[in-house]
Amino acid sequence: MSELTVIVLAAGHGKRMKSKLPKVMHSIGGRSMVGHVLTAVQSLGADRVVVVVGHGRDQVQAHVEQLDERVVVAVQEEQLGTGHAAQVGMLASGATSGDVLVLTADTPLLTGETLGWFVEKHRSGKRAVSVLTAQVPAPYGYGRIVRADGGDVRAIVEEKDASDAERAIDEINSGILAFDAAFLQTALPRLERSQVSGEYYLTDTVRLAVGDGARTGGYLLEDRVQTEGANDGVQLAALGRELNRRTVERWMREGVTVIDPATTWIHVDVELARDVTILPGVQLLGATIVGEDALIGPDTTLTDCEVGAGAHVVRTHASLSVIGEGADVGPFAHLRPGTILGKGGKIGGFVETKNAEIGDGAKVPHLSYVGDAVIGEGSNIGAGTIFANYDGVKKHRTTVGKYAKTGSNNTFIPPVTIGDGASTGGGTVVRDDVPPGALAVSAGPLRVIEGWAQAKRPGTPQAEAAEAATGSDAPAGAGQTYGEHEESHTGGRRVGDADTGA
Ligand code: UD1
Ligand code: MG
Repeated sequence: MSELTVIVLAAGHGKRMKSKLPKVMHSIGGRSMVGHVLTAVQSLGADRVVVVVGHGRDQVQAHVEQLDERVVVAVQEEQLGTGHAAQVGMLASGATSGDVLVLTADTPLLTGETLGWFVEKHRSGKRAVSVLTAQVPAPYGYGRIVRADGGDVRAIVEEKDASDAERAIDEINSGILAFDAAFLQTALPRLERSQVSGEYYLTDTVRLAVGDGARTGGYLLEDRVQTEGANDGVQLAALGRELNRRTVERWMREGVTVIDPATTWIHVDVELARDVTILPGVQLLGATIVGEDALIGPDTTLTDCEVGAGAHVVRTHASLSVIGEGADVGPFAHLRPGTILGKGGKIGGFVETKNAEIGDGAKVPHLSYVGDAVIGEGSNIGAGTIFANYDGVKKHRTTVGKYAKTGSNNTFIPPVTIGDGASTGGGTVVRDDVPPGALAVSAGPLRVIEGWAQAKRPGTPQAEAAEAATGSDAPAGAGQTYGEHEESHTGGRRVGDADTGA
């Protein structure tokens, strides 16, 4: 098989994006536009790939090299047109034989399959130049395909240079061309600047080939959206929606149940197993992986998460987290990076977690914050518990052992360890380690001061309600501490005074 060189043109400005980010770095479906094109190119197994950069070159170069370190980056100092850009790319490639595929970096829906088909057509037709074409209802701005009677392409005429008759042609140049390398090498130096725009047009190579008596081909791609570029935010969003429609459809064909495709967003790198069910309003982003029979949604955003088989994740916002098999998350849970929930575990309503390893079958069911913690297998954390990981300067870790049961409304002040099988009472503030099997209680005994409302809040609806319920107004001694609690907790002071801080 002859050599294949790919040149991706990405030096243009992309002014209409009105953004400091170079156009080709804007992303849809979780991948930049140039990333989509390079992914399609990768499937060709080309001998070399060159990306021509210019505007925003530092950003684009770093980005491209991160995507694929084998890519050669060539710099086009001045943007003198697509013909000039291809020349810069050819020089950097060092290609002398085989075929050269030239494409632009802003057609994110282009697939490797399409490129493979096009290169095969070009090769089997033994063409000097081939152009991938599309039929569009509004061809304004595109180069028009002028065909000879036999169907061969005679010329590509740019909008600015076209006659009225040529402007009426609705078959356009997608900007994706394939060349015989030897022909391209002789053609590029022969290009002349356009009288109208002053640019060197790569598309003029078609005329040169025809003049040389070489064969030219035009191959129409039915699925024209693959050749569409995004020049502004509106087009980017439209292509993003279409890409998503295709991604969601692909997963439905793979056995995923999607209740509402229109409100389901799935990035291109996401992986879903069979029999996953996705309820409305779900975004599965980044490199998220979801296992068989999992139920996601409604209204859930998972970024770079791993969800085990059979897990339920309801109204949840999670990133860089692992949710174990059969685990239960939400509703209204926030899983921040480093959350690892074990098999059959639970992170319930209004719970926030971060850097938290929650063991198999362990539960944090309600209204809690778990930061920088390890919770052992089978433990249960009471409602309204705060892992107070931050002392204002540093973060500290809390360790809870296996099968521990902690009471409601606890505060754990780390570094602290609660042993295996330990318990804590309601309202406990845990400042020191709790040994295995121990019960830790820090809240004092309950104090009851009878008649306090009537004595201290006379005439208020509160006092009236108390009176009605007890059938008495302030009795003698009301508002005083009661029984043994008086001595042990107030030292004989009137608790009402103490409590109001007087
Ligand atoms: C080009 C084609 C036109 C085709 C259209 C498809 C030419 C002369 N015209 O027109 O036939 O229908 O694309 O979208 O080729 N670029 C560089 N360096 C340059 C100039 C451009 O790298 O000096 C890159 C741009 O970043 C862009 C691509 O080449 O990705 C196309 O350039 P653009 O200026 O958009 O060409 P069009 O006028 O759209
Ligand atoms: Mg363009």
